[in-house]
Order: sequence, then C-alpha cells, then structure tokens
Amino acid sequence: MKYKDKLKNKNEDIYILALESSCDETAAAVNKNGLEVMANVVSSQVDIHKKFGGVVPEIASRKHLELLLPVIDQALAEAGIKFEDLDAVAATSGPGLVGGLLVTLTAAKTISLALNIPLIGVNHIAGHIYANFIANPEIKKPLLCLTISGGHTDLLYFEDLRGYQILGRTIDDAAGEAFDKISRFLGLGYPGGPAIEKAAQTGNEEAIDFPRADLGKSYNFSFSGLKTSVMNYVNNEKQRGNEINTSDLAASFQKAVVDSLASNLLQAVEEYKVESVVLSGGVAANQRLRSYLEEKLEKFNLKLYYPPLELCTDNAAMIGAVAYYQYLERDFAPLSISADPSLKL
Ligand code: KG4
Ligand code: ZN
Repeated sequence: MKYKDKLKNKNEDIYILALESSCDETAAAVNKNGLEVMANVVSSQVDIHKKFGGVVPEIASRKHLELLLPVIDQALAEAGIKFEDLDAVAATSGPGLVGGLLVTLTAAKTISLALNIPLIGVNHIAGHIYANFIANPEIKKPLLCLTISGGHTDLLYFEDLRGYQILGRTIDDAAGEAFDKISRFLGLGYPGGPAIEKAAQTGNEEAIDFPRADLGKSYNFSFSGLKTSVMNYVNNEKQRGNEINTSDLAASFQKAVVDSLASNLLQAVEEYKVESVVLSGGVAANQRLRSYLEEKLEKFNLKLYYPPLELCTDNAAMIGAVAYYQYLERDFAPLSISADPSLKL
C-alpha cells in the first residue's frame, strides 16, 4: 500500500489538516486524533451573498480561491503545526456546490502530493454529524441523529460510530431550504433560518394553522406543501387587502417545521431503543426546535445533544473528525477523486 511505511496506528498521535468549502464558508482545521481540535478557522462569505438573497456559486468559488491559502496558514499557525508534521490531508468531496468543492479538493490533492501524505475525501453530511462527537465525546450509542441542513433532512440510526441506517429523508425540500425559501419570499433575507427565527421571537406560533405533511407510517419528511400553503396564505391575505403580521407568520411557519421534524424523531425514539438523540446541520441551531425536543425527550429520559453554534454551521473541524476514522480504516482517496455535488451518505 502507498504510504505504508509512514502510516500510524490508533495509539500514536495523528494530525490531520482538514479543508471545507462546499458552500459559502472557507474553512481549515487541524485535528489531533480526530476529536481534539487544535485550530478551526472559518472565513464566512455570508455578507457578500446577502445582497443577492442567496449563495451565488460563481462568486463563492472565486472567494474560496482567494481566501483558502490565508485560512490554511492561519489554521496551521494557531495549531502550532508545520506542514511536515501532518499525517494526512482531508477535504470535503461532496455534497455541495461543485465550484467550491473543487477549490479545497484541488488544494488537498496538491498538499497530499507535495508532502506524500494520504488524501482523504469526506462526506459533508457525515461531518455535520461528527461535529457532535467533537463537542460531546461522551455521547452514548446506539443513537438517533436528525441531520437538517440547507440540502438535507435525514433521520439516521447509529448502532455505533461507523455504521448507520437511514430511516427517513425528505421527499422534496430540505428543512433549511424551506426556511431559506420562505424567508426570501417574505423579504427577510439570507440566510433564512436565523432571519425567520428572529422574526418569530415576537410572534404567536398558534396564529396560523399551517398543514403538517402526513406521510403515514414512514419516517420521510416533506416541506413543499407547507411552503405552498405559506405562499397561498400571503397571496390571499394581500388580495383581501389585509396586512400580514410577519412575526406571527414566521412563528407559525417555524412551529410547523419543528412539529414535522419532531414527530418523526419522536416516533423513532419510541421504536428504537437508543441511548442518545443528536441534532446536526445548520437548522440544529434553531432554538425553538431544541427547546421543543428537549421538553419532549424528558419523558424518555433522553438528553438532546447538538453542537455549539460554531460547530453547527459549516466548518472544517467536523471534516477532520470524520477523516481521522477514515485514516484508521485506511480509507484514502486517489488523486483522481472528483467532487461529487450530490454525494449521498
Ligand atoms: O449545514 P449548513 O450550514 O449548510 C449546509 O446546508 O450544508 O446549513 C445551512 C442551513 C440554511 O438553510 C440556514 O437557513 C439554516 O441552515 N439555518 C437555520 C438556522 N441557522 C441556520 N435554520 C433554522 N434556524 C436557524 N437558527
Ligand atoms: Zn453544511
């Protein structure tokens, strides 16, 4: 096997440089033995994309190109690590915006080739899940994980850290996508989740009774019907000359999303005997979702885990955590690996 003479085992310290640029954050991290984060640098482009109401892929990839090298330098400096100390280099290989993915993947290939160290391609969604294990290494398995981001809504059952079963996923829009689309529709801006959450704070979540998708006994999710009914509600009210109470609307919409996510998760909690329940992905930052689930899980005597804000949204430390386990399994990528915008878990 390539690199055979320099590969380390579990009982030795393993340093990995991880890179992430699948959306609008340019990020680099140095992880020691997976879950120990020595540096986690994130340069966000949110302010640039805000004025366009969403991420502009072409602008994002150009910015990644500009920001990546300084971000890598800063991560190495903060960790007190030199290139020669690295045991492997990891980058997100998908899912995400292809232009962005290519920037870090190409940089990682170059570093791998120059230093003659393994290249590890990491699934971004796996990264979001592992962010939890960085923040809470004591999380017990088996566990249920609800992964909710701008592109994904997956309910997963983990027997142990490396094996999982997909119980359900969205059949149309992702939860974060629903937040983003409704926020844009209401003129609340981008990213939609925090904007809706803020508007909802002063609203009455019982004000408007939006429908919750009923997909029978399945663990799948659906948000497009909810999106349509919010739009219909606004259009009808406008036609009648009524003023829209944006806070009530945001709060009622947010509660409908929270109810849909919670009902599947709680159904799974009843069916599977788990030790922990974990949230991951950008939508896991939503306080209403957290507090509602915490309240509901109390009767099952289960604690809800979620990463702190800086690990909830896109970052490279979560990529480095997954990469460590792939390193131990010698799950390396060839230099020919390409970015896969729709990579599945
Ligand atoms: O995981 P993430 O940072 O990026 C990927 O999609 O991979 O998730 C971004 C998504 C966006 O749709 C954003 O609106 C949503 O997470 N989000 C939230 C909140 N913060 C971010 N959704 C609801 N409430 C929030 N507080
Ligand atoms: Zn993400």
